[in-house]
Amino acid sequence: MKRPIAHLVGVGMYAPPRVMTNDEFATMGLETTDEWIYKRTGITQRHVAGPQETNCSMAAAASRMAMKRAGVAAAEVDVIVLGTASPDRLLPSTAVDLQAELGASKAAAFDVMAACSSFLYGLIVAEGLIVSGNADIILVVGTEMLTSIVDWQDRSTCVLFGDGAGAAVLKRSSNGKGILSSFMRSDGKLAELLYRPSGGAAHPFDAKVLQDRSFYVKMQGREVFKHAVRSMSEAADRALAGAQLRGADIDVMIPHQANVRIIEATARHAGIPMDKVFVNVDRYGNTSSASVPIALEEAISSGRITEGMTVLLVAFGAGFTWASLVIRF
Ligand code: UT7
Repeated sequence: MKRPIAHLVGVGMYAPPRVMTNDEFATMGLETTDEWIYKRTGITQRHVAGPQETNCSMAAAASRMAMKRAGVAAAEVDVIVLGTASPDRLLPSTAVDLQAELGASKAAAFDVMAACSSFLYGLIVAEGLIVSGNADIILVVGTEMLTSIVDWQDRSTCVLFGDGAGAAVLKRSSNGKGILSSFMRSDGKLAELLYRPSGGAAHPFDAKVLQDRSFYVKMQGREVFKHAVRSMSEAADRALAGAQLRGADIDVMIPHQANVRIIEATARHAGIPMDKVFVNVDRYGNTSSASVPIALEEAISSGRITEGMTVLLVAFGAGFTWASLVIRF
């Protein structure tokens, strides 16, 4: 097992105050029910950003909480790595908006786009920057306003997603705590199973795009489900092997929160009982790159994760992308 070189020394999260229950979709004229959504996904509600909220404002709230807990001032941060699939603008990055908002005056800032795996990709990039000596203090963020990019007329997608942000401060580890192993992978041949067909440079926004609604998220749910279980299972295996551990050695698993059935299948494969798996998809829905840091923050602040515990993070998302880390807290 390698000696940890980087550790998460503070974690924070933010969810918009507005909560939308499953029952509200029916009042919008959508043919769906609380029963269908809960049975197929485990979701009962999601948080929805208000008109004054942006990724930048949500990410700033989560980051301030993480930095406070880490005892780090914004001016000390060397790099901001921000994961999002729903950036505030296409140019420049949401990371630079966050850098300005926080007053992180000496920080380099850039976005990482690996959809729901972005936060884990960001942690792995951050660890590499610390290992190489390029940075000492890094802020890694996952933030999403997915309710702004889903098609509210498409019941097969809009019921699944929610808004929010999570953040972690990474520092060089000096006490045996931190990242023990990591794994990341992608398969772009499967991109069109979960994507936004238009609105980018290949298919710029025009009247036709507006009419056919092809700038919204499209997903073949059943196919994505199968790949999610397979890839998250592989990711769990690879991070465990990298840390020379088995499922039984894991104290808490923090999976990407897309669907409780995907989480259960991944945990079963990894040999981790559900009482060691942190689940909050019921309250937040799928918040993509924000889902793991939000769950991580809740697991820490509720006392589910305590010092000395070994934690497995696993995620899967559009791309497809998948990733995992084992961390000693
Ligand atoms: O963040 C990572 C990426 N995303 C995911 O991991 C999501 C992965 N996929 C899933 O979680 C599941 O596939 C869904 C929850 C999206 C769908 O569950 P499913 O059990 O795979 O259902 P399905 O897509 O096969 O649809 C079953 C039926 C269909 O009707 P027919 O064709 O059987 O008559 C759908 O039209 O359910 C219908 N349906 C709905 N009914 C009521 C689809 N959406 C809804 C809805 N309410 N909201």
